[in-house]
Amino acid sequence: MEVRSCSRCPLYSTRTKVVFGVGDPTADLMIVGEGPGREEDLAGEPFVGRSGKLLDELLLEEVQLRRQQCYIANVVKCRPPGNRDPKPDEVESCRPYLEEQLRLVNPRVVLTLGRFAAQLLIGSKEGVKKLRGHIYQRSDHLGQNSDRGFWIVPTYHPSAVLRAGGGVMLAEMRADLVRAKEALSSSFPSQRLA
Ligand code: URA
Repeated sequence: MEVRSCSRCPLYSTRTKVVFGVGDPTADLMIVGEGPGREEDLAGEPFVGRSGKLLDELLLEEVQLRRQQCYIANVVKCRPPGNRDPKPDEVESCRPYLEEQLRLVNPRVVLTLGRFAAQLLIGSKEGVKKLRGHIYQRSDHLGQNSDRGFWIVPTYHPSAVLRAGGGVMLAEMRADLVRAKEALSSSFPSQRLA
């Protein structure tokens, strides 16, 4: 794909590097964040800053996976200036890239971090506090060599957990990761279909 020279939305003019995605392109677990921050924009890699460090720790502790064993991407591939929220037209312009990543990686489970990824993939306008705590199914998206869809496990964005100083949000995020681990082994607990 032509993503490195993409100019589909105005974010191209302020980015340093396109942050497409990293990790195992055949991973069972795909993680989708919101968009690159300052450090990611410089490095060209998602979740390399403070929130990435928390994500790495929680992944290892609750799912027993290292980041290299997952595939990590964002809703928008270029940094919104000043870390502002991505605008609806920016999300829409970038959406085909994420859809293509989902098709190619063909994960069993997608862990969404924060409001933007959850709303986009579940197709809901609810806030992440309402959406998290449940597992959703997307079966419309069939992988190249597969007849299965994927499970979506929404959780908080790690930077929101850091801002909150851990506490209840951190405990809930840990519980969500345990939910993702259970979904990976395909014995699903309380299912809720989107
Ligand atoms: N926050 C995100 O949503 N994605 C990143 O890659 C880094 C921080």
